[in-house]
Amino acid sequence: MKIITISYRLPLSIKKQNRKTTITQTAGGLATAVLSYSEKSNANLTWVGVADFEKSTWENHKDGFSKNFEIEPVFLDKKLNKNFYNVFSNSVLWALFHYFPSYMEYNDEAFEAYKTANQIVADKVNEIYEPGDIVWIHDYHFLGLANLIRQQHPDAKIGFFLHIPFPNFEIFRIMPNKVKRYLLEGMLGANLVGFHTWDNAIHFTECVEKILGLNQRGFVFSQDSHRTKVGSFPISIDFDKFYDAYDKPNVIALRNEIAELYHDKKVIFSVDRLDYSKGINNRLNAFESFLEKFPEWKEKVVFLLVIVPSREEIGKYGERKRMIENNISRINGALGNYKWTPVVYQYQSVDFDKLIALYSSAHVALISPVRDGMNLVAKEYVAARKDLRGVLLLSVLAGAAKELQEAITINPFDTELIAEKINLALLMDESEQERRMQRMQNYLRTHDVFRWASRFLSETEEMHSHDNQAQPL
Ligand code: G6P
Repeated sequence: MKIITISYRLPLSIKKQNRKTTITQTAGGLATAVLSYSEKSNANLTWVGVADFEKSTWENHKDGFSKNFEIEPVFLDKKLNKNFYNVFSNSVLWALFHYFPSYMEYNDEAFEAYKTANQIVADKVNEIYEPGDIVWIHDYHFLGLANLIRQQHPDAKIGFFLHIPFPNFEIFRIMPNKVKRYLLEGMLGANLVGFHTWDNAIHFTECVEKILGLNQRGFVFSQDSHRTKVGSFPISIDFDKFYDAYDKPNVIALRNEIAELYHDKKVIFSVDRLDYSKGINNRLNAFESFLEKFPEWKEKVVFLLVIVPSREEIGKYGERKRMIENNISRINGALGNYKWTPVVYQYQSVDFDKLIALYSSAHVALISPVRDGMNLVAKEYVAARKDLRGVLLLSVLAGAAKELQEAITINPFDTELIAEKINLALLMDESEQERRMQRMQNYLRTHDVFRWASRFLSETEEMHSHDNQAQPL
């Protein structure tokens, strides 16, 4: 028996340096957790995803890299991938599912490309599938996949997990009927369909009921070939990895460097991929309003804003980058001076040690998405605070706000109130910081990504075996 995991991104990175190519396996939370489950259940693991490298690079170097599981890249034609990934996945589904209907750029050609890409990936899975395997499909790129696999293998154990929000019916219905049906029927091909929160699960069941006319009983839809259970499975992080990193010598050195650099200031920090759903301008506006409302903080606080480049080929992302950069430069121009830059901005990713040093130096983490399935940055910030210091300001529109009950919640559009909450956070006494951090850490320590993966996969297996035992003799 093996686990076949499918996600758009493969857990590997390819680097070319001095004409030498190296392929390394990346140890993200998801990969580590699925691997751990596969080891415990004595199963092999195969990962299927879309290659962002040439076939020849793979053929020439795949034997030279050490990995803990099998990797099966799918090579898509450039034009097809553009319509599949840039247009349908990221300019239709991403926009709509994050409640940005006016950003949706639907066209039939992109939908056809999405179906073709799902079929190509299904063919690859069907090729390697053996009876008894568990298939775990991830995210909005592959909403059609479970059904395509089910058609070939009616008995397959299939789980589907959506990493982004699932919108309500009024938003979902915006898409043409043929698209809505394809997506919902696609997801219903799974034995288990998981979301980050119950709200998302309820939105999904409402869409299925209203659009496909199926009725659920206790969050289970019965179909001819199998039943589909719908549930909430909030994703998490590898808690120990973030917690233990606090004491790494390199992290300590970097933290000391930050402390020296900002010895007379308090640090507010945020890190996100560049995305319109992250509310980056909302938080910049709130920070500006905070400095205007509480001028005593001028020159005594700095906002370290890290933005990680993302989806740069898509128009709305380039546009957002310009809007953010204009805002940063306007704020720095209006409020800063030759001794002080209020917003220190970097448009690059940071490596793990730097990230932990930044998390553990920040008096406040300011996380203000206007819509987010979960938001793992919030969980990482809490886990990285082995010193039990710091305050988390978190948007109520992030899934994580449902679990991190001791965060100070904000509405990203309530600029004035965020300004006041930043002030309160910076003034919060240490015992209160400690109390809140401790409670959130206690929760995350037991609700980590390993528990998440294992709950999801064992429920997929349970749902499947329940159905198969229930067959009348
Ligand atoms: C979100 C999605 C992931 C995606 C990631 C990075 O977290 O849920 O599926 O991989 O963003 O975006 P990218 O488009 O670079 O894969």
